[in-house]
Amino acid sequence: MNYHIREMTHRDYDAAVALWHSVSGIGLDDNCDSRRGIARYLKRNPRLSFVACLANEIIGAVLSGHDGRRGYLHHLAVAAPHSGRPRTRWGLSQFSSDENGTVPLAKVDVITGRPHRKQGVGKALVGRCLRALARQHIPKCKVFLFRSNSEGRSFWRHNAWNLRRDLSVLQRETSK
Ligand SMILES: CC(C)(COP(=O)(O)OP(=O)(O)OC[C@H]1O[C@@H](n2cnc3c(N)ncnc32)[C@H](O)[C@@H]1OP(=O)(O)O)[C@@H](O)C(=O)NCCC(=O)NCCS
Repeated sequence: MNYHIREMTHRDYDAAVALWHSVSGIGLDDNCDSRRGIARYLKRNPRLSFVACLANEIIGAVLSGHDGRRGYLHHLAVAAPHSGRPRTRWGLSQFSSDENGTVPLAKVDVITGRPHRKQGVGKALVGRCLRALARQHIPKCKVFLFRSNSEGRSFWRHNAWNLRRDLSVLQRETSK
């Protein structure tokens, strides 16, 4: 498969979000994953997030960043095979509005139906992130995974990621 990997930019937003919506195992947040949220993330973490492209189509995407201490990967996805003809999705309204009001939904052609998984795309995307983090002197990287995502867990463990059974994730909102 003749794909290439390049850095993600804010212009990849519609295709990346459509891809993330098209696969199972990825949770999108109204705030962080809004157009503005992703633009902010990419600006804060330059040269660390990547897309895999086949011709003009985005078939894989991953976000990565760091806090100066640990690296984090988010939303790794590679397009799943499906029944064949090109699939068109409509961008979701919550991801398509800005401070001036709602922008008309964009049609996004995401996946052409070729099976893109199990061809090394996910591993290559992760490898690009890890090398980019290492260049910024970040020695370790973490990934958050839904407990229900057994396929994802199996992928990470197959690729030498350690499941930290001694840790739990806690969170609360900053503004309440
Ligand atoms: C997880 C995912 C990104 C893997 O993408 P992929 O392109 O199919 O993976 P690759 O082809 O790069 O696989 C790399 C290696 O992992 C193995 N692998 C792939 N998926 C696997 C799985 N579910 N379980 C175990 N091993 C897996 C491959 O066989 C390959 O092994 P090898 O290097 O020994 O030959 C893809 O299945 C996906 O998008 N899943 C849905 C979203 C998701 O769950 N993301 C992770 C949560 S953040």
